[in-house]
Amino acid sequence: MDKKLPKFVGTINIPGDKSISHRALIIGSQATGIVKVTNLLESADVFSTMNALRKFGVDIIKRGKDYYVYGLVVGGLKEYNGTINCGNSGTTARLLMGLLSTYPITINFTGDKSLSKRPMGRVINLLREFGANALPENKNTMPFKFLGSYVGLQNDQKLNVPSAQLKSAWCLAALNTKGISTLEERFETRDHTEIMLKYLNANIKIKKSKNKKIISIFGKTPIDAKDISVPGDISSAAFMIILALISKNSKVIIKNVLLNPTRTGILDVLKKMKAKIKIKNKKIICGELVGDIEAKSSNLKAAIVPEKMAPRLIDEYPILFIAACFAKGTSQFKGIEELRVKESDRIQSMELGLKPLGVKISSTKNSVKITGTNSFKLNKKIKIDAKGDHRIAMSFYILSQVLNKPFKIKDFNYVKTSFPSFTKTINKIKKN
Ligand code: S3P
Repeated sequence: MDKKLPKFVGTINIPGDKSISHRALIIGSQATGIVKVTNLLESADVFSTMNALRKFGVDIIKRGKDYYVYGLVVGGLKEYNGTINCGNSGTTARLLMGLLSTYPITINFTGDKSLSKRPMGRVINLLREFGANALPENKNTMPFKFLGSYVGLQNDQKLNVPSAQLKSAWCLAALNTKGISTLEERFETRDHTEIMLKYLNANIKIKKSKNKKIISIFGKTPIDAKDISVPGDISSAAFMIILALISKNSKVIIKNVLLNPTRTGILDVLKKMKAKIKIKNKKIICGELVGDIEAKSSNLKAAIVPEKMAPRLIDEYPILFIAACFAKGTSQFKGIEELRVKESDRIQSMELGLKPLGVKISSTKNSVKITGTNSFKLNKKIKIDAKGDHRIAMSFYILSQVLNKPFKIKDFNYVKTSFPSFTKTINKIKKN
């Protein structure tokens, strides 16, 4: 049977990191001068951010392969009172609310079907302290009218949701607020906003102790314009890594991938599962750790993944669940309730897709158990509903590739939100 299965071999590059791409455009728009961005992710989500910024007078021009963001200085956006359509992108919605919260404007925030179900009350609550609000009040989901503040109000807050989007929204609001504002974070979430602000010499201070981190931002002070090079997205690389690990006779090298420790939970868990992964050529680029990842076919073992790992691994659970289907034993993923409010309810979407394939998977509100198998039920036509969720679509596509069985995946086109060259990249390394 193995003879019929494809193997995956080769060296590839992965498109730019989505989180850093959004931030390069948004923070670049606040710089004093022109920010050149290399390897920007050209995907629907990032284009949603780009289109929105242009409405506020930010010129963003493509020359060759690079993008040039013409910074308008901190607080320098032009007035616009209209609609921002964030498409499928939670990062666009939440970060832009942060950026716009200190301007006296009224914006109609909208998004697609999936984004319109995602919680926004948590970001509004945080931004209310700067003087912003949304109408109707107490409406947790878009569409709504977002009202910026006439003057950003200095504030000190504690973040009680482990979300980098919320933290970043707060940082962007604090950037245009007079005086020093502080935010206390008790979960370690991705820190690209802090790193980029530091790299551009913003007036930001970080104090870390054992269980918490305090961010202080001295607002209304200028930030420099410097070139930003976006590393490959580890969340996209994860699909290629796991493809190699769970296929026979495979070896894939992925160049120039973001290795920021707040994002590499996936590598730590996979190593615990006995994955053959090596990291090479580590270096720091624009304040971010970057390197090459080599992944080889492996005999995976089940793992117990505790709640504290979740923020460092939040986008990788769907493809990690696929890896668990190939691991010996029962894996457990704990403290993952946040997955229920991503682009889809990711626990439910994965369960609905995997159960008919004969995978032993069970869940509670905030956990999942998966037992590895080598007898998938593949005798009939396989239909998967990705529910407008790019990472669900890509996870099941990887499974179909490894099993060499075509799946009909509804909403597969959503892959364009983060990884438009996904199937092309797989075809490049696929050897029959
Ligand atoms: C992101 C943060 C994460 C992640 C999302 C991108 C970011 O969301 O799931 O894909 O760029 O800040 P939360 O911070 O809401 O968990």
